[in-house]
Amino acid sequence: MSEPFLSLGPFQGITDAPFRNVFKRHFGGIDKFYTPFFTGIHKEEHAKNLQGEEIDPRCNDVETLTPQILSTDAEEILRFAKQCKALGYKEINLNMGCPFPRVANKKRGCGLLPYPDMVEAMLERVFEEIDIKFSVKCRLGYYSPEEIEAILPIFNRFPLSELIIHPRIGKQLYKGEADVERFKALIPYINAPLVYNGDIVSVKSFRRIQKTINNNPSTGSGTFNRQPVNQYMLGRGILANPFLAEDIRRDASNASERTKRLHAYVIDLYEDRLRHAGGSPKVLGRMKELWSYLMNSFEEPQVVWRKIKKINALREYEEAVEELFRNECLSLPVFS
Ligand SMILES: Cc1cc2nc3c(=O)[nH]c(=O)nc-3n(C[C@H](O)[C@H](O)[C@H](O)COP(=O)(O)O)c2cc1C
Repeated sequence: MSEPFLSLGPFQGITDAPFRNVFKRHFGGIDKFYTPFFTGIHKEEHAKNLQGEEIDPRCNDVETLTPQILSTDAEEILRFAKQCKALGYKEINLNMGCPFPRVANKKRGCGLLPYPDMVEAMLERVFEEIDIKFSVKCRLGYYSPEEIEAILPIFNRFPLSELIIHPRIGKQLYKGEADVERFKALIPYINAPLVYNGDIVSVKSFRRIQKTINNNPSTGSGTFNRQPVNQYMLGRGILANPFLAEDIRRDASNASERTKRLHAYVIDLYEDRLRHAGGSPKVLGRMKELWSYLMNSFEEPQVVWRKIKKINALREYEEAVEELFRNECLSLPVFS
């Protein structure tokens, strides 16, 4: 199989522009990035939230970053598309996957999946006017994994630049397992270039998923996507182990270098966030959120997490991180 195309999934509150830029300075292997979702694009031009660093082309690579929107309003999506295009972006992505009840109960994110008529009306209007690539990220459904069956024929009517499917339902949030078999069964029914997302946490799980999806193609009546699926979006797995994309590409380095590189990354991200926040201890929240994933790279995640989670002063955080990386036994990351 040819080299996989790997993207870094968006995480609201974690993978913002400073994160993406620091990540790129320290790790390789990722071909494409997405912004966490934007909402509230009120103005025809220069919407306030499209002026900041999160989307400013001087702070982002417009060739490899796709801005994402959470909306069900075709006019808002078109406003977003127009402004992103003016900034130099080549594609936007629509979030039809967010599972949080606050969002989904308003028929946004994956809350839109039980309503194929709404999806159809929205896409008809969007594709009347859009002049930039348009992709969708979705789940199997909100309440039930069958919901996607009514949505796929609608997606197939439009030239989506890609369809990213995270094979869980909204009601699961991020619990349970991604249903790789169901993803596989859908492949021949999907016209758009397809991206798999979910539970890629190690090279081993990547290979297993890649094999499951591509071995013995489904013999269903679908006629699309007979080629192997070779695009994957990494999520919590790469937040936990930032070497994951390099490892998938077999770009391995030895353990001591890894500990050093991980340490340098964590410091760089913290210092960058601190600079952006004018030295405010607010950065601790963001760093802790990353550590809630990163701890899984360590031999004793719970020991690491207990140390980090109770911290509420910058100095304390700095000392704890130094101690973690000094303590050989605790800090020897276990990458598989
Ligand atoms: C805290 C959090 C924030 C997220 N924010 C976004 C987001 O803004 N847009 C999006 O499309 N997905 C978002 N996701 C979903 C992830 O991008 C990804 O699809 C999900 O974690 C499943 O992949 P995984 O099993 O590999 O982690 C978020 C997930 C979490 C846990």
